[in-house]
Amino acid sequence: MKVGLLGFGVVGRGFYDIVATRDDIAVAKVVCLEDISLPDAEVTRDFQSVLADDSIDTVVEAMGGLHPAYEFVRAAIEAGKNVVTSNKALVCTFYDELIPLAQAKGVKFRCTAAVGGGICWLSELERARRVQKILRVGGIMNGTCNYILDSMTRLGLGYDEALKQAQALGYAEANPTTDVDGIDTWHKVILSSNIAFGVSLDAAQVPAAGIRNITAEDVEQFKAHGYVCKLVSTGICKDGVYSAYVQPTLFETCEPEATIPTNYNLITLVGEHSGRQSFYGQGAGRYPTAYNVVQDCVDLLSGKSFYAPYGAKVTIDNSAAMCYYIRGNFPADKVAERWGNAVITTPVSVEFVHAWLKENPDAFIAALNTGWNEA
Ligand code: HSE
Repeated sequence: MKVGLLGFGVVGRGFYDIVATRDDIAVAKVVCLEDISLPDAEVTRDFQSVLADDSIDTVVEAMGGLHPAYEFVRAAIEAGKNVVTSNKALVCTFYDELIPLAQAKGVKFRCTAAVGGGICWLSELERARRVQKILRVGGIMNGTCNYILDSMTRLGLGYDEALKQAQALGYAEANPTTDVDGIDTWHKVILSSNIAFGVSLDAAQVPAAGIRNITAEDVEQFKAHGYVCKLVSTGICKDGVYSAYVQPTLFETCEPEATIPTNYNLITLVGEHSGRQSFYGQGAGRYPTAYNVVQDCVDLLSGKSFYAPYGAKVTIDNSAAMCYYIRGNFPADKVAERWGNAVITTPVSVEFVHAWLKENPDAFIAALNTGWNEA
């Protein structure tokens, strides 16, 4: 395999280092803005030279961001080159365009590192969905948020300090608001659901609440009541009805999610035959993420392409009700009890709480008693 590598940042550099030890994958050109030279690959700023090079059969996109990643990936597919990317924003945003295009052109397209960093999540989801209906996907999908929440809970760190550390360790997106506002997790659960259920979720109907407003006082309340807070995604398919959302969620200390440390993720599927399967590993970082990019290249060599056939657009129903911890001015008729300066609600729908949060952007919400570990 001859690769045109786009981007030489955290993931691109990791990919280059790992494949340097292999003889089945060679990086022929690296497209990047950095002023570097490499012993065995041409470094260029000119993506067109990758397109024009017929010896390059595969484009590995590790630039991140939507533009020009989208234009480059689209042009690569149209030129008949296979694509491997770790860019969840790209695949999620242009799912309806890139996946059918790749399938129409007979081009192989994989993006395992886009969800779960170094975890073999999408590749196992691909196997799981071959022989059963997938009923639910989701879990802890963002290493940065898990690092922050874990540091606040176990080490008593403040939010800002924990975020700075996650950035220094290379976990956070270039713009870390993408992580802490739940957008990164949102991309990942939409992409996972699309593959799991063989559909295309209407992303505009999938709400995301993040962790930017969590305080040390919130964490103290959770501890006092025996809970640990995690940022969790959910995608459900039940009797042809689809539900999906991202929100901070409280787990009892004995539940698996409560124990997940640092940048690790815990991603779960529930299948009609297999029941629950959970996948644990590093959700971010140079070599874990680059590892999955290399795995995708090896899968391309063995003939694999995208994980599932492209499926039709579906709408979302988030009418399911659950209780929430809410710090903010929530309607009094929906309050069951008080925890310090926050409240615990009566069961209210996911849809209602996320709509309320849009009007109250300084509030913090966390779902509790969601039954996540009962399935
Ligand atoms: N910023 C992402 C995270 C990187 O923290 O999980 C991996 O997708």
